[in-house]
Amino acid sequence: MPIPIILAVSNEQERLAVQQALSEIRENVEVTGAAETPEELFRFMPISVPTIFILSAQFAKNATVSLVERLTTHPLAQVIVLLPQEDFSLARQFIRAGAIDTLPLSQLPFELHASLSNAIRRAHRVGREQIPRSFQVGRVIVFYGPKGGVGTSLLVTNLAVALASYQPEPVVLVDLNLQFGSVATLLGLRPEATIASLAQRFQGELDFEFLQSFLLKHEESGLRVLAAPSRPELAELVTTFLVERVFQVLRNHFAFILVDTSTILQDTTLAALDISDQILIVTALDLLAIRNTQLVLEMFRKLYPSDRLKLVLNRSNVRFSGLTPEQVEEFLNIPILAQIPSDGQVAVSSVNEGIPFVLRSPNSLLSQSIFRLATIIAGEQFTPPVPVAEKVQEGALQRFVKFLLGEE
Ligand SMILES: Nc1ncnc2c1ncn2[C@@H]1O[C@H](COP(=O)(O)OP(=O)(O)OP(=O)(O)O)[C@@H](O)[C@H]1O
Ligand SMILES: [Mg+2]
Repeated sequence: MPIPIILAVSNEQERLAVQQALSEIRENVEVTGAAETPEELFRFMPISVPTIFILSAQFAKNATVSLVERLTTHPLAQVIVLLPQEDFSLARQFIRAGAIDTLPLSQLPFELHASLSNAIRRAHRVGREQIPRSFQVGRVIVFYGPKGGVGTSLLVTNLAVALASYQPEPVVLVDLNLQFGSVATLLGLRPEATIASLAQRFQGELDFEFLQSFLLKHEESGLRVLAAPSRPELAELVTTFLVERVFQVLRNHFAFILVDTSTILQDTTLAALDISDQILIVTALDLLAIRNTQLVLEMFRKLYPSDRLKLVLNRSNVRFSGLTPEQVEEFLNIPILAQIPSDGQVAVSSVNEGIPFVLRSPNSLLSQSIFRLATIIAGEQFTPPVPVAEKVQEGALQRFVKFLLGEE
């Protein structure tokens, strides 16, 4: 569902400027109301869903600052103020009154996009705190890559950030790649606390308050993270008993517990797989990856019900030896839950900057494929920041190449 926007502008020029800027961005928002007077504006209150107000600084003349103060007493209201021109002192007054951003009219075409993304994330976060929880116990979803380097960590991290940003229930990501965990780095987080420091203090009892003090917070999304040990030799501190206790506790407090793992099937990985509700096996269109996936499937099918197992095909648009996703699905006899395209530029810059691509490049095909997966997992509750196409759209170049190869 798009996030509603209420417009409160003071003249035609502002109205046109906002409409123009909104028509050029792809944020998942919808203007659902407009107010001409402060009284009309308050008719939109009280609101029951997170709502963004775009309000002109001149809307109520000198009373606009106090209007913002009144609006923002409502926890679900996010207010962006339009200034007639750059004015730092006025901007400060509005921010102090509770606005989340101020935009000079001239900057609207360039800045509205970033300002709205921020407002949408905040709206979800407060929505999350307001809405009574709808889950009994959280779902444990383990990502496992049968071949190293197929992209397991990148995908699970971006999925976790997407779910935490654009869905109301709380999400935690556990890095069980105990020797070479990369989740904290992918999120640009400094792992001040890790599962190894938890293990050092663990004495058989674990309650949520204690566990919570070892969770890192990814501020941009609200995602909580239990990071992997900072050095490989600390991995051995983490026992299967601790891992089981961690999941039992997290399940009572998070709707989605996502888990990254290493290719090596240690007993801690098996403990997570045993407790999981879903196992997403990440693979690629590469014969070695497919071969390992086949071996792993043989083993997992003996241990777990087959509906727990699903495939995520990374770099699905890279064709190797003529292998297609359909052939892989048939050969391995397992449904492909998601196909993730290859995009070196988006992936590598996201990794190198420590900013998940779902936040950095929400319009990329890579992000869109993660938003589709998030919708499969969380259903209607997931509201992506941009409208998501049903299928991966093929670019004109890809279609042309297919044509040349006689595939079309
Ligand atoms: N869809 C993609 N498009 C482009 N590059 C990708 C894609 N998926 C992953 N990569 C790149 O592949 C590299 C490895 O990714 P990642 O660390 O997530 O793999 P992994 O399976 O977790 O590896 P490991 O076995 O070391 O844990 C990263 O540098 C990432 O940028
Ligand atoms: Mg990894």
